[in-house]
Amino acid sequence: MAKTVGLPTETKDGERRVALDPSAVKMLVHSGLDALVQKGAGIGSGFTDEDYRFVGARIVDTAEEAWSADIVCKVKEPQPAERSYFRPGLRLFAYLHLAAEPELTEALASSGVEAYAFETLTWPKGHPLLAPMSEVAGRAAAIIGAYYLGEGSGTLLGGAAGVPPSRVVVIGMGVVGTMAARGARGMDAEVTGVDVNLERLLEVHEQGIVTSTLYSNHHNIGEVVSTADLVIGGALVTGARAPIVITRDQVESMRPGSVIVDLAIDQGGCVETSRPTSLSHPTYVESGVIHYCVTNVPGQYPRTASKALSAAVIPRLIDLAHDPESERLEGSLNVSQGQVVHPAVLASLKGESQGVID
Ligand SMILES: NC(=O)c1ccc[n+]([C@@H]2O[C@H](COP(=O)([O-])OP(=O)(O)OC[C@H]3O[C@@H](n4cnc5c(N)ncnc54)[C@H](O)[C@@H]3O)[C@@H](O)[C@H]2O)c1
Repeated sequence: MAKTVGLPTETKDGERRVALDPSAVKMLVHSGLDALVQKGAGIGSGFTDEDYRFVGARIVDTAEEAWSADIVCKVKEPQPAERSYFRPGLRLFAYLHLAAEPELTEALASSGVEAYAFETLTWPKGHPLLAPMSEVAGRAAAIIGAYYLGEGSGTLLGGAAGVPPSRVVVIGMGVVGTMAARGARGMDAEVTGVDVNLERLLEVHEQGIVTSTLYSNHHNIGEVVSTADLVIGGALVTGARAPIVITRDQVESMRPGSVIVDLAIDQGGCVETSRPTSLSHPTYVESGVIHYCVTNVPGQYPRTASKALSAAVIPRLIDLAHDPESERLEGSLNVSQGQVVHPAVLASLKGESQGVID
């Protein structure tokens, strides 16, 4: 059984979340584990060192001390400077998105880290450790898209008397897509939900989450994207590189000043022209279209996001400490004993990714 769990301060650009809030650390300590919380780790989310000390954590001064624990639990994938803390047998539990991170994968494998990814855990169903952040990011996507649409084409999502509402196309009607569609509908936009899963399309249509639905293929996408004001990308195939659902020529067909918010960017992006951006430099313009491709959107809503994440993570973290073979961790082990062991991650890294859809 592992004895110590380290909680380092996040170092990714603009990232203010922390993987465990004080209530979760209290549960960790009650389960018999020592919590090593790096000084200031919770500040961005409004949790003080004193809050953590009060529930039984040991506050450590440096990242090195937090990373010296048996298990390191953090939010985002380790940044290049953190790779020096990798060592054989260290258990890492975090968002990793390795299909889009070949260099990080190599660093984890060559240093013998046992790497468990939040986003590929599939027990008992769906993606229980991805869902809370997809919920936050999806809600945020509607707000962000609406904002940049004002900056770009000068269009208001909901229109006005005598002016039709904007057209929003949401790719992937999972958690991100559903929350984004709800947000956009809440602002009175016209929303088309796109997916390959017809059952899901029926549900979102029946529930009034979208105004129309569309089966995802290259032809259909071409037709809706050319008239869209805002496109929100949230297509996912567990562990794999995101399918490229919108091609470059389809982006070129969009009106200048329209907006793409590609949240699938953490898995490589579902739009051919997407490339990762950061919270401090969130957008770029390509073919006249504003692209927002931030890989850690929930990092700008750290209080809500950290609380939602910790509630989902804490039971699985306790499982990981007590029994890393537990079925409740199904799908999460990505790198073990120097090898990539998750089949979809491995296939993507070998270049057998989803590619452009027909
Ligand atoms: N950028 C960020 O800050 C951020 C935050 C949270 C989540 N995400 C990412 O958003 C993506 C979506 O996450 P989710 O939790 O909504 O996943 P999900 O599994 O709930 O939903 C994914 C949906 O995509 C659909 N899909 C798969 N292939 C498709 C295709 N070719 N065309 C259309 N739809 C397709 C699936 O059927 C499913 O309904 C993931 O890559 C996730 O990591 C990003």
